[in-house]
Amino acid sequence: MSKERLVTGIRATGNLHIGNYYGAMKGIIELQEKYHAYYFIADIHALTTHPNPKDLKKKVLEVAKDYLAVGLDPEKSIFYVQSSIAEEVAELHTYLSMVMPLGDLMRCPTFKEKAKKHPDNINYGLVGYPVLMAADILIHQGSLIPVGEDQLVHLEIARKIVRRFNQLYGEIFPEPQPVIENAVRIPSLTGKGKMSKSDETASYIGLEEDTLMIERKVKKAYSDPTRIYKHQPGHPTVEGCNVYHLHTFFTSESERKEIIAACQGATIGCVQCKKSLSESIDVLLQPIREKREQISEDYLHDVLLYGKRKAKESAQEVISEVRKAIGLRMI
Ligand code: TYM
Repeated sequence: MSKERLVTGIRATGNLHIGNYYGAMKGIIELQEKYHAYYFIADIHALTTHPNPKDLKKKVLEVAKDYLAVGLDPEKSIFYVQSSIAEEVAELHTYLSMVMPLGDLMRCPTFKEKAKKHPDNINYGLVGYPVLMAADILIHQGSLIPVGEDQLVHLEIARKIVRRFNQLYGEIFPEPQPVIENAVRIPSLTGKGKMSKSDETASYIGLEEDTLMIERKVKKAYSDPTRIYKHQPGHPTVEGCNVYHLHTFFTSESERKEIIAACQGATIGCVQCKKSLSESIDVLLQPIREKREQISEDYLHDVLLYGKRKAKESAQEVISEVRKAIGLRMI
């Protein structure tokens, strides 16, 4: 097992979708065999949008179930809720915030996007979101970070923080690197941007959704806008058709070749093509759904408590080292 530490998190903002699965979870399940890994549920990050407290608690458990259902092994990796180590993470966040230029945070494209979408809720936590993310990673001295493509800008900021911090206080942190193989962006069913749980439910497919629901949602997915009638040839490319783009992640290459030929030859229409996409997604989700149903709340509680103890140990070691390095006199 490599000594390098792998860290990644998923926000507790609702059930996970196939974008999270493909962009992050699938990879982390494979990586847990090779690395000393920390996987957490980011409930503090979810607070930027002020969720109802009861809902937030529920969502943490839903996300925990999803992680376990896709194959996370809590014996192999350290699996915990972010707020279980709130003291250490919040403290480190404060120290890191002192070396991070505000201008860079305000220019961060994800911040600008969120501020544009919700101009009435541009809070301090939203600007500092990437700094809190850096604290999540560095609290375990993480160096390998498996994330989807949308998080790469945040990792760039984390690296900048590390360089500045180390320059001031010595080599405390490794520079976190993304685990590239997983850097994909699964498009939304609506054809607008990436699949995201902050958008309307028709735009994503949740890991817990059943065959019928998947079929219903995929049926309404945005496809090739230039193909109106079945007798017209389609454009089965990533740029030409959102449904084909989704096929590239979930459908085998051989089946895709058949779809391309049939779509270009106008022997199948969008309805049939969507049916085969929903089947591919359903094949992926069926075992996850089955496993999910077997996970009890008691088991979840035990797993998260065990993870909390382990994460706390590692976080306390790092935060003591940081306090010493920056010259705080903790009397
Ligand atoms: P979050 O909760 O939005 O997403 C969790 C993971 O899923 C990936 N992802 C996608 N990948 C491909 N296509 C998509 N449509 C798609 N949607 C989401 C994300 O890239 C991510 O890897 N800020 C993070 C959570 C976080 C974190 C961290 C991650 C907090 N602290 C420290 C790594 C390290 C977030 O909001 O992810």
